[in-house]
Amino acid sequence: MNQSKQKVLITGGGSGIGLSLAQKFMEHGNTVIVTGRNLAKLEKVKTDFPQIHIYQSDVTKEEDVKSLVDQIQTEFGGIDVLVNNAGIMLLLDTANENNDLQKQFEEIEINYHAPIRMLYYFLPQLKKSKSATLINVSSGLAYVPFAQAPVYSGTKAAVHLWTQAIRPQLKPHNIKVVELLPPVVDTKLSKDADLKDDNLKPMPPEKLAELFWKDYTNGKEEITPGLSKQLKLMSRLAPKFIFKQLNKPAIPNK
Ligand SMILES: NC(=O)c1ccc[n+]([C@@H]2O[C@H](COP(=O)([O-])OP(=O)(O)OC[C@H]3O[C@@H](n4cnc5c(N)ncnc54)[C@H](OP(=O)(O)O)[C@@H]3O)[C@@H](O)[C@H]2O)c1
Repeated sequence: MNQSKQKVLITGGGSGIGLSLAQKFMEHGNTVIVTGRNLAKLEKVKTDFPQIHIYQSDVTKEEDVKSLVDQIQTEFGGIDVLVNNAGIMLLLDTANENNDLQKQFEEIEINYHAPIRMLYYFLPQLKKSKSATLINVSSGLAYVPFAQAPVYSGTKAAVHLWTQAIRPQLKPHNIKVVELLPPVVDTKLSKDADLKDDNLKPMPPEKLAELFWKDYTNGKEEITPGLSKQLKLMSRLAPKFIFKQLNKPAIPNK
């Protein structure tokens, strides 16, 4: 696999896992374009990494994605690697009548509909690339649902199965499909979720990017760093046991 001189687009690459992956791709001589909704955050990233390219673009907005496709085509002549990374996680108790239904639908939009939308619109560019790769960032929770984040767990399982289903369809078009299933990683997403009572030690994002890079460059298609490897195994060997272990408090603190 070609690991340098590629044009890499990372959604939600202005922070957390996306930014660590961006750094890794840049370290290895690739051109990296990151997107996000918050322009100030992206501009700060541009100050820290002047070689990075930033675009304010919301993965849930059809017009944003179409305009991103056009701008990237004009400026870079297309992409070789699409990383569907943007995501949010809501903790909620489904039994609470006061839950925000629209927020739950927004979570499905960002986490599941958006990767499908991004691939749909960037497909022509990927088909033209000599070494195209789609990387979907799902979660270890695709193997074992986390009760405190029920909609999130559903979206990640959906991304996982979608990734498996499209892999043989894209192969004849020379588009390699890779899935990264991170464990708990120390980012805003996991901090906001306040997982401290759950006895899960977050992995630093730089460490995740290092483990990802090793497996990615070895041609691995399903990348399961840290605890995700155990979740995968246990979901097959003892699914009820691991579900109970992960979900001792099934209701979120707040
Ligand atoms: N952290 C973990 O423990 C963990 C574990 C497993 C999987 N993951 C997955 O890893 C991915 C990255 O998460 P993270 O932990 O790095 O969280 P993060 O630091 O909160 O980063 C998420 C990024 O997504 C962007 N984003 C959110 N909604 C967007 C939208 N509508 N359009 C464009 N960009 C959007 C955010 O930027 P803006 O707010 O500026 O848009 C932000 O840069 C997610 O898919 C997450 O589910 C995380």
